[in-house]
Amino acid sequence: MHSFVFRANAVLTFGITVLAALCILASLSDSFHSSLPDINLQVLNVDVLQRLSNGNDEAKLTLHISADLRSVFTWNTKQLFVFVAAEYETQKNQLNQVSLWDLIVERKEDAKIDLRRRNKYGFVDQGSNLRGREFNLTMYWNVMPLTGGIFTGSKVLTGFRLPSEYTR
Ligand SMILES: *[C@@H]1O[C@H](CO)[C@@H](O)[C@H](O)[C@H]1NC(C)=O
Repeated sequence: MHSFVFRANAVLTFGITVLAALCILASLSDSFHSSLPDINLQVLNVDVLQRLSNGNDEAKLTLHISADLRSVFTWNTKQLFVFVAAEYETQKNQLNQVSLWDLIVERKEDAKIDLRRRNKYGFVDQGSNLRGREFNLTMYWNVMPLTGGIFTGSKVLTGFRLPSEYTR
């Protein structure tokens, strides 16, 4: 009886150790997995650049969001949280970051994205700083693994500029 309990315990301990080792290996193999996603972001049109009644500037853009993030997926990937942010500098802040669009991708097959659409979230500045403003568009992808920590990749596309006058 004694030896049975002892043996069961030893088997269990061994099992847990193996599982823990597999989890560590899984997250390690993930961090060594290098992906080269193909990403392109374009502003097809600045539909609106306006001053809101509260004095803040707002831009409405038609974006072309093209990304092939299939290579980011490994067998240890649960899902990706993908978002595109407009990033720009003002006198007050070195980095202003406004999220324009996001997507949760749960399957590798869905990680090839090709969309032409208006920004999903408002491109609103806390002030009237958008006229003639240069900005970057950055795509971020948070990789949520089955086991191990979240990591983030990103790609910056530079050289965008808003018109120097309001459109309405
Ligand atoms: C835009 O991207 C360039 C190149 O990465 C960087 O030097 C610049 O600081 C970025 N601008 C902002 C406002 O983030």
